Amino acid sequence: MARAKVLLWACCMLFLATANADSSNFAKGIGVNWGSQVSQNLLPSVVVQLLKDNGIGKVKLFDSDDWTVKAFAGSGIEVMLGIPNNELKRLSDSYDDAQDWVKENVTAHTRDGGVDIKYVAVGNEPFLTSYNGTNTHTLLPAMKNIQKALDEAGHGDKIKVTTPQNADVYDSGTGGPSQGNFRKDIRNIMIDMVRWLDSINSAFLVNIYPFLSLYQNSGFPVDFAFFDGGAKPVKDKDHSYDNMFDANLDTLVWSLKKAGVPDLKIIVGEAGWPTDGNINANNKLARRFYNGFLKKLATDKGTPLRPGHMEVYLFSLLDENMKSIAPGAFERHWGIFRYDGKPKFPVDFSGKG
Ligand SMILES: *[C@@H]1O[C@H](CO)[C@@H](O)[C@H](O)[C@H]1NC(C)=O
Ligand SMILES: *[C@@H]1O[C@H](CO)[C@@H](O)[C@H](O)[C@H]1NC(C)=O
Repeated sequence: MARAKVLLWACCMLFLATANADSSNFAKGIGVNWGSQVSQNLLPSVVVQLLKDNGIGKVKLFDSDDWTVKAFAGSGIEVMLGIPNNELKRLSDSYDDAQDWVKENVTAHTRDGGVDIKYVAVGNEPFLTSYNGTNTHTLLPAMKNIQKALDEAGHGDKIKVTTPQNADVYDSGTGGPSQGNFRKDIRNIMIDMVRWLDSINSAFLVNIYPFLSLYQNSGFPVDFAFFDGGAKPVKDKDHSYDNMFDANLDTLVWSLKKAGVPDLKIIVGEAGWPTDGNINANNKLARRFYNGFLKKLATDKGTPLRPGHMEVYLFSLLDENMKSIAPGAFERHWGIFRYDGKPKFPVDFSGKG
């Protein structure tokens, strides 16, 4: 992000009083994505305060901009760094480049107990079918180079490489979650990757969007996109699913089982609901989604196959007015917060409200 593009929102933002939030008591496991495809982004220091005020303890970035990352030093907020897809080829071809990347974007920030980095997310949904296989053979070598460079720089025990995948890397055909498996055209690569992630003790990062299911299928049962139990349950083996999120995540669990890594940790890299640009994209339904989702997360109920605590990054912190609208006009309206730091709709990140 060019510094010049940043508006001086700081003056007004710093006086924001976001009531009854206690930054020492971060909502357990709740993270948020902060994208940079905007003409005028908020100052990083303002975002740090915004997250603290709302009890959000983790942030996921899409690059590793120095000025942005630096702002999280000593904040207590855990940062997931990102590496864009257009860097994959370079980093897969050259271990020297991977070493430089780690030096400049990790080591520089972790000195003196600076920024709390736990994951480096390599690529962003690199296996989308719309990329025509561009990243198929560069992703895993790039991930391995970065991890090796992290290991050699002494970060390997704490910082792991992962990669955010769209849920379209697996499917279950017309069956339930138990029919799940990785997509045929990339199955062998996915199997290699998840086994490697498992071997280094990392996690599978997946983006799951009930909104998109609704958007793409006019016949999709609306209630199944939410968490208030109104949907007709779908039975699969011994389990019953009353929401799409659980069914989707368990399809991944089955895919991992079939790949031989049944216990690989899963992190939800993106989940959220847009507020404009489509008939189902509005504050009312976004509120319904987040309300149900955050309550579910607070109970640590998990899914039928992965009960327990779930690590999740909401999508997204703010609207991004320069995102491609090829997928739909809603793409620029994923923000939970407006640029004045106020949420677009009432939301309680602790899930207790
Ligand atoms: C560090 O990350 C930034 C931002 O993502 C990138 O532009 C830069 O090329 C990276 N540094 C190295 C040495 O690769
Ligand atoms: C993928 O292929 C389609 C059809 O050939 C083309 O229109 C599109 O630009 C390609 N996308 C990329 C990212 O190469």
